[in-house]
Amino acid sequence: MPQYPQSRLRRLRRWPWLRDLVQEHALSPSDLIWPVFIAAGSQREPIASLPGVERIPLEQIATEVTLAADLGIPVVALFPATPTELKSPEAGEALNPDNLINRATALIKAACPHVGVLCDVALDPYSSHGHDGLLHDGYVVNDATVEVLCRQAVLQAQAGCDIIAPSDMMDGRVGRIRTALDHAGYQQVSIMAYSAKYASAFYGPFRQAVGSATNLAGGDKKTYQMNPANIEEALREAEQDIREGADMIMVKPGMPYLDVLSRIKQQFHFPTFAYQVSGEYAMLSAAAANGWLDGPAVMMESLLAFKRAGADGILTYFARDAARWLQRPK
Ligand code: PBG
Repeated sequence: MPQYPQSRLRRLRRWPWLRDLVQEHALSPSDLIWPVFIAAGSQREPIASLPGVERIPLEQIATEVTLAADLGIPVVALFPATPTELKSPEAGEALNPDNLINRATALIKAACPHVGVLCDVALDPYSSHGHDGLLHDGYVVNDATVEVLCRQAVLQAQAGCDIIAPSDMMDGRVGRIRTALDHAGYQQVSIMAYSAKYASAFYGPFRQAVGSATNLAGGDKKTYQMNPANIEEALREAEQDIREGADMIMVKPGMPYLDVLSRIKQQFHFPTFAYQVSGEYAMLSAAAANGWLDGPAVMMESLLAFKRAGADGILTYFARDAARWLQRPK
């Protein structure tokens, strides 16, 4: 390689067109998955810790998703704000074919069949203890939980879900869910596994949005979600999910775990996604609202960083804002 002064790396940074020409990575609206909270009532509900994000009632969901699709967003990820009175220790509402998620899915697929619907599989939006699985003596039991998750996933597929996304971190759930979907005739429904999901404090605003924060009552999920100190273990998690039949894998949270994303992408060359979680959105939005950061600039920089680190796509509460920014006249 030539050295300075023959080589001057700043030469290619001289003009906007030249910077565009040599740009290595780019973000497109088709990289974005928009997470949407479904409200049980008929009003839109703001979420204090997620400024600009609202829970959307069923009556408005198809319209909202159509608008997002018009911006070029290919997939929405649905999360229910289940009313407290429907939550129970066994999370039975997860197995209600007419629960908020299944009704929202059916409404979206009827109104805009060209948009992909991703459904989270886990029990925390339905359980009165706020955990992702069934509790026995204060411990989240694995195999009994997986049985419920399989039934939850089949009901979601039946409602029209395209992508089943297990976010529970139980062992063996991807393989079992794959088998359950196939037996029920849903061979075409794909699985995006939350493979490396960490026991993170960055999920705080999400837990307020689905109302599981009060249920969890200060508890944590460290017996099933991963220790933030570990990366080798993330590779084992990803490998197991791929062997069990995951079509796509995910790393979560996003920005503090770009090293994990990069290692997993380089190791497995698999469709790999990042979840820019609620706490990341809250941090950037709060700083922007205070005038401490340039909101659109940090939004686009953070999303591009996921692409550079190897993400094929990003789940982000900024999806609509970012898609609008990408479509702005230049
Ligand atoms: C449910 C689930 C969580 C998130 C996505 N699915 C919360 C949790 O594990 O406690 C977090 C998403 C976010 O913070 O934006 N299992």
